[in-house]
Amino acid sequence: MKNIVILISGGGSNMAAIVKAAKRERWEDHYGARVAAVISNKAQAKGLQFASEEGIVTEVLDHKAFPSREAFDAALSQLIDRYDSPGQPVLVLLAGFMRILTPGFVKRYAGRLFNIHPSLLPAFSGLHTHQRAIDAGCQVAGATVHLVTAELDHGPILAQAVVPVLPGDTADTLSARVLTQEHLIYPRAVAQWLRKMA
Ligand code: GAR
Repeated sequence: MKNIVILISGGGSNMAAIVKAAKRERWEDHYGARVAAVISNKAQAKGLQFASEEGIVTEVLDHKAFPSREAFDAALSQLIDRYDSPGQPVLVLLAGFMRILTPGFVKRYAGRLFNIHPSLLPAFSGLHTHQRAIDAGCQVAGATVHLVTAELDHGPILAQAVVPVLPGDTADTLSARVLTQEHLIYPRAVAQWLRKMA
C-alpha cells in the first residue's frame, strides 16, 4: 500500500478535497494508495476534525515546542517515515502547511513532496498572493500544484488553474474563487502521479 501523508496548518479544505477524491475515485483499488495520516503543526487546525471523522490518523506536532527549524523538521520526518511501506515510500502533500521546510527535509522527500500555492507560479510566490495580484492589475489569477524543491514556491509544475480577476474583487473574493479550483487540481494532480507510479 502506498501511504499518503497530508500536512496542514488550518482549514484543511484542500486536504478534505483530496480525501474525498480518494474515496470517490477508489484510489485504494486503482492505485493501491490511501490517505494514511494528516499532520498539523497547529492543534486548533480545523481540518483535523474532518480527517478524524473520516477515520484517518491525525497527529499534531507543534513547531513552537522545538528549538529550531531543523529540530522540528527532524521530528516531522520521524512521524512521516512511519508510513513508509516496503518499497513504497510515503507521498507527502503540503496542503496549506504554513511552514518553511529545511533543505534537508526537502531533499529527503525529493520527487514525492507536493505543494499547492495560491498563485500562477512563478508569479507571486510567498504570502498575500491575492492582494498582490489585484494590486498588480492582473486580469487572471489562479493556483499551482508543484513538486517542492529547496527554493520556496518553485519546482516543477504539476497542474495549474486560472480564474478571472473581476472588477471589485477583494483578496477574500478572489481567494474563494481560486480555492474552488484548488480543490479540483490538487486531487487531480495526485491521482495523475499515482497512476503513473502504479
Ligand atoms: C490554500 O489557498 C493554499 O493554496 C494556501 O493556503 C490555503 C490553505 O487552505 N497555501 C499557501 O499559501 C502555501 N504557501 P486550506 O487549509 O483550506 O486547504
